[in-house]
Amino acid sequence: MAKLIIPLLLLFLLFVFSPSNAVSYNLVSFGARPDGRADATKPFLRAWASACQSVRPSTIHVPRGRYLMKPAVFRGPCKSRILIKIDGTILAPNNYYAIGNAGNWLLFVQVTGLSVLGGTLDARGAGFWACRNAGRNCPAGARTITFNYANNILISGLTSINSQTTHVVVNRCNNVMVQKVQILAPDQSPNTDGIHVQFSTGVTIRSSGIRTGDDCISIGPGTSNLWIDHIACGPGHGISIGSLGKDLRESGVQNVTVKNAVFTGTDNGVRIKTWARPSSGYVRGVLYENIIMKDVKNPIIIDQRYCPDNQGCSRQSSGIKINQVAYKRIRGTSATQVAVKFDCSSSNPCKGIRLHNIRLTYLNRPAQSSCTNARGTTSGFVIPSSCL
Ligand SMILES: *[C@@H]1O[C@H](CO)[C@@H](O)[C@H](O)[C@H]1NC(C)=O
Repeated sequence: MAKLIIPLLLLFLLFVFSPSNAVSYNLVSFGARPDGRADATKPFLRAWASACQSVRPSTIHVPRGRYLMKPAVFRGPCKSRILIKIDGTILAPNNYYAIGNAGNWLLFVQVTGLSVLGGTLDARGAGFWACRNAGRNCPAGARTITFNYANNILISGLTSINSQTTHVVVNRCNNVMVQKVQILAPDQSPNTDGIHVQFSTGVTIRSSGIRTGDDCISIGPGTSNLWIDHIACGPGHGISIGSLGKDLRESGVQNVTVKNAVFTGTDNGVRIKTWARPSSGYVRGVLYENIIMKDVKNPIIIDQRYCPDNQGCSRQSSGIKINQVAYKRIRGTSATQVAVKFDCSSSNPCKGIRLHNIRLTYLNRPAQSSCTNARGTTSGFVIPSSCL
């Protein structure tokens, strides 16, 4: 008898503790209905609570269909890894106040080891933009999906459309991979940035397409070791470090790589933008490499004179110290005459700018470059000829 029981027991233990034996929770079995009308918020939060309590890795499956969600906070820490597999669409309520007052629609806080795979998030932002554009009394607006204080996060194959404000926010995180995402909003929609990263380290964004009314990717204070690769950007405002230096005491931005990107019809290509105010912040160690510009208004730009409506910055200069910024193999067309513009701070000139193999044209002729308070070197061919 024991001869049989022991192998069976071993088999049983193997089954229970095998890492592939993840627990699975189906959103529909928590009471959600895929009809785009029934409120799926509570079912989703109950599924999250179960997954978060599970000592074994778990999967929350969102089947095909449309699920209406109000603002929701998915809080950690959780006991094990969680995968949210989305085959359907998560839909915001029609009334834009429902998420617009919350600031965040889908918010993940203090979660470690989360994957979000597939799915569409539709925030239905049009009503909110119309309110803003009409200058009426509107709610502040919601970001579509935000990660705060989260570590080891994978977001893959997600589509986000028509966010009220920024689509994806990575804030105070470590080790985040965003890949194969599609972000879509009309080019005139206000402040619909694609992905915003700040106070985070070890973030990778790759193989993604971003078309919005504001920055495709914006990079805020406290960002380090950021890797951006294979991005199609446009329409939109380009990939921007900044705005930085609004505050006197501010964390710097360090070690940013943007590689293999195509910008189509954007306002900017690669931009660094700082307020014309005193600040302790800095930007150092940035590499832009192998980039194609198609009809971009400001393909390469550093603007340290940002001072909208002269808000306490007129006749001041930026305290942000910009150092070691390299531009390599950047080619294509500018939609304005000045394709390379370094407008740096008079009190903190840009240092260590490097240009290598640049070819930017305007109306089939070499474009122009313009430098203020900028120092650096060139190598290879540089068209328009450098003013460094
Ligand atoms: C810079 O960031 C990359 C990731 O983007 C990382 O692999 C590399 O180690 C970082 N370099 C330094 C000096 O920290």
